[in-house]
Amino acid sequence: MKECVLVTGGAGYIGSHTAVELVEAGMDVVLADNLTNSDMQAVEGVRRITGREVPFERVDCCDRAALGGVFARHRFGSVIHFAASKAVGESVCEPMKYYRNNLLSLMNVVDLMREHGRRNIVFSSSCTVYGEPDSLPVTERAPRKPATSPYGNTKQISEDILRDAIAAYGDLRGIALRYFNPIGAHPSALIGELPRGVPQNLVPYVTQTAAGVRECLSVFGDDYPTPDGSNIRDYIDVVDLARAHVVAIRRMIEGRNKADYEIFNIGTGRGVSVLELVRRFEQANNLKINHKIAPRRAGDIVAIWADPTLANTELGWRAERSLDETLRATWAWERHLRGI
Ligand code: UD1
Repeated sequence: MKECVLVTGGAGYIGSHTAVELVEAGMDVVLADNLTNSDMQAVEGVRRITGREVPFERVDCCDRAALGGVFARHRFGSVIHFAASKAVGESVCEPMKYYRNNLLSLMNVVDLMREHGRRNIVFSSSCTVYGEPDSLPVTERAPRKPATSPYGNTKQISEDILRDAIAAYGDLRGIALRYFNPIGAHPSALIGELPRGVPQNLVPYVTQTAAGVRECLSVFGDDYPTPDGSNIRDYIDVVDLARAHVVAIRRMIEGRNKADYEIFNIGTGRGVSVLELVRRFEQANNLKINHKIAPRRAGDIVAIWADPTLANTELGWRAERSLDETLRATWAWERHLRGI
């Protein structure tokens, strides 16, 4: 029988790209999303790209009864749990929203998986769990640092919930993927990131500046101890990232996992500064981005990039798209959105 995967947060940025890759890998998917920070446009995009009437359930994962209905109606064996709030700044102002959304939803998913005998879970974690790393590139063995935001704390606590539930009950297995900085869009330009309001993340701000929606990009700090003074991150293409979920699911279905709970960094292994990213975007798309140097943003870490060796060797996954391809795809998506 075909494997079926429940994708919570399936109308979101990473969820929608992952749904496409799952279908293209021959699996069925069920998308679940409460649409508070996402849009049916992404679900339609998934349907258009795959040519399939992918089922969608509008449900809040914090509503256990409603989510239980999804488990009762669909025969998936695995879950990829994306549904969560993810704005660092907002989490500082509204911590209870973040603890409730991010933790309750995961606990409901875990409880329902056990009740319904569904075994495999992939959890979307973040490199934020490493804080400011002591050495670079950062491996999965690096210590987790005290979280600097409620959002970051929910990722750490969620990893712990999963680790403990898997160890205690013996009827689940899971893989936590620690994403670095996901960017880009599907090459069809039918799905991509859909930020609401003023973008908080770098690349959507860059593309909106290029489109004339924003006047000027602020580069938050050029006096960091890095070669050009701006922060360094590991920008991972969202399609590459989506494929990491496919291999993680397959690994568990085929029983190739080495432990019931595993953790992998999902990044390129390449550190790129903010100023470099802006320059590369300009070159790749042959345009200019109006930008200025602004003060540092509170809470930003200086530099982080992944050592993805474990994912490369164990999962047989690696980032394939070049930064230029990714930056062209992201601009194609912005143009598609704006009709330019
Ligand atoms: C943060 C979180 C990450 C989370 C992600 C999703 C941390 C350390 N990282 O990533 O876990 O998954 O948000 O929202 O908490 N920048 C500018 N100008 C802008 C916007 C950003 O210069 O207008 C710079 C930032 O200072 C940073 C880099 O661009 O150096 C990337 O920022 P951003 O895209 O917001 O991602 P992170 O903060 O790295």
